[in-house]
Amino acid sequence: MKRFFDLSIILLLIFTITLTACQGEIRSAAAAPSALMGDPATGQSLFMSTCAACHGPDGRGLPGLGKNLVESEFVAVKNNPELVEFIKAGRNAADPLNTTGITMPPKGGKASLTDEDLYHIVAYLRSIHK
Ligand code: HEC
Repeated sequence: MKRFFDLSIILLLIFTITLTACQGEIRSAAAAPSALMGDPATGQSLFMSTCAACHGPDGRGLPGLGKNLVESEFVAVKNNPELVEFIKAGRNAADPLNTTGITMPPKGGKASLTDEDLYHIVAYLRSIHK
């Protein structure tokens, strides 16, 4: 009887430890993506003050200034971190990857934008993309 008691205590301990470990994992898995998900409303106001000058207030681009982002294949195929990296770097007219011969300045010319701001802007781009 004593042996059985010892064994059940050990099993209970193992069970509790496993359960606690799993809960920790579930919590961190849920927290991870939210750090990469911006708020579209905040993104919209940042877009209006920085990006709309070239991409238009509706995001559909202005001739000779910036491309249509609503129907952009590029926006469709890139994930959020990739879009943030692109916006940070911009794209010089001399870059072989440039498609228009027009320069997009890094961060659209607003150096003060943080990574968090850029994730908000990307969330807004997702919301207007067709
Ligand atoms: C000074 C004008 C200008 C500003 C401001 C600007 N862009 Fe651009 N953007 C461009 C140009 C020009 C291109 C096209 C580059 C090329 O030909 O490859 C472009 C391309 C892009 C693309 C790739 C689109 C595609 O289909 O290839 C994205 C995404 C983008 N811009 C996002 C932004 C965001 C977000 C902002 C604001 C933070 C911003 N841009 C500000 C001029 C601008």
